Formats: sequence, C-alpha cells, structure tokens
Amino acid sequence: MATDPRFRHFEIVGSTNDIALELARLGEPEGLVITADSQTDGRGRRGRVWHDEPGQSIIMSAILRPAIPASEMPKLSFVASLAVAEWLGAECGLDCALKWPNDVLVGNRKLAGILIELAGAAAVAGIGVNVNQRRFSDDLTDSATSLAIETGQSYDVPALTKSLAGHVFAVYERFLASGFEGILADWRKYMWGVGTRVEVLAEGRSLNGIIRGVDESGALLVEDASGRVHTVHSADAVRTAR
Ligand code: BTN
Repeated sequence: MATDPRFRHFEIVGSTNDIALELARLGEPEGLVITADSQTDGRGRRGRVWHDEPGQSIIMSAILRPAIPASEMPKLSFVASLAVAEWLGAECGLDCALKWPNDVLVGNRKLAGILIELAGAAAVAGIGVNVNQRRFSDDLTDSATSLAIETGQSYDVPALTKSLAGHVFAVYERFLASGFEGILADWRKYMWGVGTRVEVLAEGRSLNGIIRGVDESGALLVEDASGRVHTVHSADAVRTAR
C-alpha cells in the first residue's frame, strides 16, 4: 500500500528542502511533502542555483525514512527520478531521458531536477519541475525547458504537484518492498547517453570516454580510449564531448 502524502504549502520560502530538513530533524514522520509557489534560495546539486518563476513550477520536498544506511541513501535519487520519468509519460504523455545521476531531460533540455539531502536517519527528496514557464533567462534558454514549452498546454500546478507526489511515494514503496534492483532496471530504460562520448568532471579531474551504463549500485560506467571501464560514483558534471 502506497503511503498517502501529507502536504504543507507555503507561498514563498527560502528552500522547501530546508523546511523539510528542519522538520525531519524535529522528528516529523515520513510522508510529509513541503510545497511552495516560489523559492528565494532554491538550490540544486553541487551548490547550483535552482530558479523558478513564482507559481509556474512544481517545487516540493518529501520527507522519507527508509530503513537503509546513509551510504545507500543516494539510491533515493534513482527512485525520485524514475518516479518523475514514469509520471511524465503517464500524466503528460511526454518521453524524457534521465541523465545520470538524476537530471530529467526532454530533447536534451532540462525539465526537472532532484536534490536528495539527509537529516540524520531521514532523507529529503527535493524535486523541481518546470511547468508553465514559456521563456527562460538568456543563460538558460538553450539548456532548460518546461511542460508548457514541450506540449503547448498550460497546467494546474497544485494538481500536478499532488499527482507527482503520489507517484513518488508509489515508486518509493516499490523500492521498499522489492529493492533497488527493480528500480534500477526500470531507470535504465530511461537512461540518457548510453554509447555517447562524454567528458566527466570529478574531483578536479576530467575523464573522456563513452557511457556504457550504470552498475548495480547506480555508479556510472565510462569506457576510455584504452578500453578501460571507469566506475564513477559522483561527478561535478557530465558533458557531451565533441
Ligand atoms: C538539480 O537539478 O541540481 C536539483 C534541483 C532541485 C530543485 C528542487 S526545487 C524543490 C527543492 N528545494 C530546493 O531548494 N531544491 C529542490
């Protein structure tokens, strides 16, 4: 049985992840989803800024308490990104690709992002989805997209948020009940870039090679020119190489 999410909505916050992390630290049980119309300090992975246009995107942070060690919490980013991908297909009829570790791309532009953060034994899954934006600032025009741009329709953001949260918890229940293997098998169907030549930036070093997939832990596999396959556990950036 999937957990029914509970919602607490704010008009404007710094970051919904901060509120969820604070509540998780105070002992809030799993299932609470913090949502907001807008964030003044929305953040992405690796200290990047997450922009929103007030009221035009899904901004949510869900408190999860899986009984797994902290070292396995990164698996939740596969759970959340798979949930977004499945939901986009079912709810919006959109095909997307998941760029390791968890960018959600449509036509090579980013539609959604996921940020998993920890508070003790709890995790917060922060999800941002561009929904009704028709334009992005100059620096994002080539790299970002929205549901409205992709489908030509406008959406009811609160209704979409509730529907996405429901699917996030449904996939999370699948993970708890059946384990990571099934999640990863489904995630691989959406994986971006298998066979693509990329440059991976990690720990101040650069690796050039071809994406071969992900291993059973979710680490990225990149084959270099000598045929050696590197296992990448975390990276600052994965860029298409010329
Ligand atoms: C990324 O692509 O780097 C992750 C972006 C995550 C954005 C969401 S929006 C809701 C939650 N609150 C935040 O400050 N960040 C996440």
